[in-house]
Order: sequence, then C-alpha cells, then structure tokens
Amino acid sequence: MDSNDDFSPAWLAYKPIANRTLREAWAHRLEVLTLPPFGLYSPLARAEQELKEALPSLLGVEVKRGRGIASKGLSLELTGGAPESFSLRCFPDGIRLKAADELGLLYGSFRLLAWIAQGREPEGLDLAEAPRLGLRMLDHWDNLDGSVERGYAGKSLFFRDGRVLPPGSRLRAYARLLASVGINAVALNNVNVRDPETRLITPLYLPRLAKLAELFRSYGIRLYLSANFAAPVTLGELDTADPLDPRVAAWWEERARIVWEAIPDFGGFVVKADSEHRPGPFTYGRDHAEGANLLAKAVAPYGGTIFWRCFVYNCLQDWRDRSTDRARAAYDHFHGLDGRFLPNVRLQIKNGPMDFQPREPVSPLFGSMPSTGQVLELQATQEYTGQQRHLCFLPEQWKSYLDFPVATGPDGDLARSVQGIAAVANAGDDPNWTGHDLAQANWYGFGRLAWNPELQPGDIAREWAAQTFGPDPKVVEALASMLLGSWETYESYTAPLGVGWMVNPNHHYGPSPDGYEYDRWGTYHFADRDGVGVDRTRSKGTGFAAQYRPELAALFEDPALCPQELILFFHHLPYGWMLRSGTPLIQSIYDSHFEGASRAAALVEKWKALEASIEGKIYSAVLKRLEEQKENAALWRDVINTYFFRKSGVADARGRLIHR
Ligand code: GCU
Repeated sequence: MDSNDDFSPAWLAYKPIANRTLREAWAHRLEVLTLPPFGLYSPLARAEQELKEALPSLLGVEVKRGRGIASKGLSLELTGGAPESFSLRCFPDGIRLKAADELGLLYGSFRLLAWIAQGREPEGLDLAEAPRLGLRMLDHWDNLDGSVERGYAGKSLFFRDGRVLPPGSRLRAYARLLASVGINAVALNNVNVRDPETRLITPLYLPRLAKLAELFRSYGIRLYLSANFAAPVTLGELDTADPLDPRVAAWWEERARIVWEAIPDFGGFVVKADSEHRPGPFTYGRDHAEGANLLAKAVAPYGGTIFWRCFVYNCLQDWRDRSTDRARAAYDHFHGLDGRFLPNVRLQIKNGPMDFQPREPVSPLFGSMPSTGQVLELQATQEYTGQQRHLCFLPEQWKSYLDFPVATGPDGDLARSVQGIAAVANAGDDPNWTGHDLAQANWYGFGRLAWNPELQPGDIAREWAAQTFGPDPKVVEALASMLLGSWETYESYTAPLGVGWMVNPNHHYGPSPDGYEYDRWGTYHFADRDGVGVDRTRSKGTGFAAQYRPELAALFEDPALCPQELILFFHHLPYGWMLRSGTPLIQSIYDSHFEGASRAAALVEKWKALEASIEGKIYSAVLKRLEEQKENAALWRDVINTYFFRKSGVADARGRLIHR
C-alpha cells in the first residue's frame, strides 16, 4: 500500500453503535433510501455514496434504494429554501431530509451521520440549518516541491516535487472531511508565491488543477490559488506589474480567461502583497485599492473573488525606533481606503493586529470599514500555539474573536461583520492528517464555527470526540476536559498577559524571551529592570489603542480598565503594578507559569486514564506528544520565570523554585 493510502478516517470513523436498542431505532428508519435523480459526480451522488458507506458501518444495515415518493425510510428531497440549507426530521418510520439544492442534501446527510455517530437518539432529530457565512475557507500554505510553510503534519496533500498530485483516495477523504463540516473553499498554495508557484496559473499546471477542482466540486468545494502580484514580470511577459498600466490590466484579464477556461467554477485569488518581501502596488507608488482592483476587475466577469490580505507592515524595523508600532500597520494602510475597493474584493484580516499570537486584541479593522467586504483569517496550523506538539484547542480562542463586539448593539459581534472566515490549514500528509491526533479537533472545530459561529466550544469538543473515538460518555467527557482550557493552559506557560513573541526566532517553537527583542520584525516587549509591556496608549504610547471605536479605545487606554489578559499588549507596567485580581504583576507572571506547567503535566495523567479506551497506536502517539508538552512547558516556566526574576530581582512570594 502506498503510504498515501494509509490514513486515519479522523471524525468520519463511523464506529459501530454498540447500544442495540439505539442501533435498531435508527436502522429501521434507514434501510430504504430514496433520492431525486442525480448526475455521476454531483453532490447528491456523494451523499448517496457516503450514506451507503457509513450506515452499514454504524448500524450494520445494508441500504436499499427506494423508488418514487417514499413514506418509509430515509428520503432526500429537493424543495425550496436558501442555498446550502437543509432540514432534517425524524418520523416513526423514517427520516426526511429536505434541502433547496444538492449541496444542502450533502450537508444534511453528513449531519445525519454525525448525529448517529455521536450516539444520539433518532426521536430528538429535528434540525433546520443554514450556514451563517457564505465563505468557509481553508488556506493551505503549500509549495510545489511538497513542503508546507508552517506545516507540522508532513508534506503537502496537493503538491510533490514540482507536480500537482492526482486526485486519489487521500484527496477524496480530504474533500469528504471538508464537506462534512461545511467547508466550501480551499486555497491550495502558500501566500508566499515564489517563482515555481507563480506558474500554477499557466497551462503547465491548469489541466492537473482542473482534475482536483472536479473532485472538490462534487463535494461543494471551490478551488482558489494564491497569486503573485508581480506574475506578469515573474513569468517574463511584461517589464512591469504596475496596476495602473493598461498592459498589466490586459495581461490579468487574459490570464483570468485562461484560468476560468480550464476551471469554470474557479473561485479566485488570495493575495499577499507588499508584505514580508512579496511584491505589491507600493513598488509602483500605487495603493492597495489600486492593487486589489486590478485583479478584481480581471476576475469579475467569471464571478471570481480577490482575497486581499491586510497583513502589510514594515518587516525591516529598527528596534531603537520607538515611534513605529507594527500593531498599527494594517489599520494605517487600509482604513482610509474604505469605499474604494470593487465589490468582489474581500479584505482578509488576521484575527489580531500582530500575527497569530496565543493572545492578541481583535484587529481594529473589523467593523471599521462599512463599505468594504471583510473576511476573518485564523490560524489552525499551530505556528505560535505549540506546533501540533502541544495540545491547544483553538475553537476557544476563535470564539473569543467571533463573539467580540466590534460594533455596538446586539448584532455587533465580529462574526456578523464579515462575509466569511478563512483558516490557515493544519493538515498535511501525515497518516493522522495533523501530526497530533488531537489537533484534528481544530480542523473540525474551524469548520463547525465557520458554519455556525454561535456554537459553543464545549459542544464542538464533545461532538468531535464522539465522532472520532465513539460515543462512550466517559471517554467523550474525558477528552472534552483535556481539550477545553488547553488554549489557556498554553497561554499561561508561554508569554504573559498578551505580550507574546518570547519564542525562538524563525521556527517559533519554545521559549526565548529576547529572541525577537533586538530584531527587525517589530515584535518587542521592552522588559527592563522596572517593568514590561508595550505602551500603545494614545496619551503616551504609540496610539494603537485609539484605532478602536471610542468605547473600546477607552477600555484599552486605561490600565485600570484594560482586560487583564491583554494588559501588557497595551501598557508598559512596573512589576509591582497591582492587577485587578489583587496580585502584583510579577507575582501573576510567576503564578501563571507555575500553574500552566502543572496543568500541562496533568494532561499526561488524564490521557493515561484513557489507555483502555483508545486504540493503541493513537494512544502511544498522543502520549508521546503530551510528554513532550509537559517537558517543554516546564522549560517555558523556568526560562520565563528566571528571566523575570533576573530582570526584577523580585522573589516568588510563595517560595517556589526559580532558577537564578
Ligand atoms: C507569519 C508566518 C509566515 C507567513 C506570514 C503570513 O509571519 O510566520 O510564515 O508567511 O505569517 O501570514 O503571510
């Protein structure tokens, strides 16, 4: 068997339902399946295929095809309603799934299977669901040679040695996993588009990409690519990429024609421009509206979209220059451009103003550009959250952003201010997809939250655990108790109170308090013998706090009001500063690191208690990672505590061991 054929079913494990009464209650309602007519590679064909593969495994039933309008069994019906939505209802002799389109029927089929796999009873089944957000996207940072930027789970699922891989069983499984949680868009290649990947939009690669698109299409997933803003120059066809040069506009129009001819439902491009040495409109003295609109105009005739990233900042800063603040950059570059972008541009904004740290305030751009479409970008790949060697359940972090009141009023949350959500993907070709088996929960959780941002992380954790490991409540609760709180645990033994960045440069794993302190990336914490933190107030700091709407700006500006978990993001405070909890700042740093490391150690014991319930290979693999986490968390604790003890000279009030 090719190693690429040996992979985990993840949350589509469809483990047999052990409870006989429950199994029979479902089985008699599902033996006959009636569907409307469908084409060979349609979402409905995929729905039928999934039901026929899953139901025998879950319930031990063989599914027979019914004819005409069925009064018994499982019937899938095309009726009215919103695109992608579905309703699912249980009757004494059957289950009825209704949707407006085939995709709704596919999503409803997956929801039915999830419901069964979670060990729920048919009688309670009465769902009507529609995705809250139209765009639910995964962005892979994959390169044509098969490497994955910030990838912690093996090589690319799509590329190898300069080639696009054929759509084999692994990619079908990938597409099923996506569709099962409602993800409907995927960008295949790294936002850092280098010369080889620039060629993805040429006839050299388009036929192969069209094959992938065909597979994804049948699961309701649209294909996107990251584009190089300087492509006309890189491909040697023009001597400029100036967005206002008519030859450049004509070049992109022709390029769009070629791409859409190969892939008629191609989604569009993700663009990282003028960021970390990538080319962009600034080279030609143009702004980002001019840059984005160039591409948007070219793709508009085909219904294409441009995801224009706002991760634009000066990455060649001088640490001696205290007037420049990287946190300000996205807002400073983009806010004034509101109203100038074409309707098919979406500004893709990272959750926080810096770069996917364990904790950052929400980006002030959200909700601040009423005439511009926006998309939230999250990072599922755990670059700064333990690199899939530490357990860190990110839906809890994501939820804190999705629920954040970027505007006033009951509908002012971030989730309602955006047209979609993208996450940097955490999957690769490792047999378990994500390196750490439990990191699959982040992938699953992203899809679920993008479908419905109102879901609670606890419910997501339990659903995922039941679907992946079977619905034994003891196992599900034990897993949920490991996942929930793991983000805060990670945060508590790494960099304190929103300060971030105390990681080893480049690879970003493990502690290095001054690793970025005298570097050019604009990522400083300014710890000295008296205190730590970045003064971003309007009154005496960089003014970043003033980029928020007035109520929030007032909150962040005042250290007495600022949320404690972000206090060092906004303020430089003396070690003796009394936090609202009644603990001095320095003591809170020590406490958090001691407690975080001991919570990480406790994860090992929690997992060991599950040994009898988890398949041996997964049990050992996860145990190994948790043991590494325990050890690395202790290192974080000791390095950070010693660092602050040496800076401040203040001893731990509780007399615990801090190395000198
Ligand atoms: C981070 C990450 C880079 C990535 C960049 C981006 O800085 O370390 O690898 O390219 O984000 O989002 O563009």
